[in-house]
Amino acid sequence: MQAAVEAVASESNRQAWIADHDAIFKKLSQVSRAIERLGPGGPTPRRLKKIAGELKELLVRTEKHFQNEERQAGLFDMLGELLPDDRSKIDRLRAEHKHLLQRMTTVHAQLAGDEVFDLELATKELSAFLETLLAHEALEEQLAERGFNWQARRRA
Ligand SMILES: [Fe+2]
Ligand SMILES: [Fe+2]
Repeated sequence: MQAAVEAVASESNRQAWIADHDAIFKKLSQVSRAIERLGPGGPTPRRLKKIAGELKELLVRTEKHFQNEERQAGLFDMLGELLPDDRSKIDRLRAEHKHLLQRMTTVHAQLAGDEVFDLELATKELSAFLETLLAHEALEEQLAERGFNWQARRRA
């Protein structure tokens, strides 16, 4: 158990994990802005497909990130051991993963599909999604700082 905690809590793991959070959030913000810029005039199908492709890449990366957090003896398991009083928060984070992926998949399907969809609604959905994701990452980092004694950081 101690070895498993040390593996997850290692400095290289911390850096990779934080970098992943930053990269996912940054990329998603870019995609969200790109969608906003499409404007009410109606995007060209080519532009839409390009953004859909970027979102798909991000979806795959986020799924991998989530799987890594959820894996056996991974971050969530270790935090659950170290912070038993916070297990309900960790369970909530796990449940949020499913929900976040579903929402992302829905927006992607709209962008990639041939059906007409409400662009304004998709834009709103993405910015709401970004807020949820940011809160999700912040709670994880807060728990990890406490559980692993990682140095607190401020998000730029
Ligand atoms: Fe997560
Ligand atoms: Fe995460």
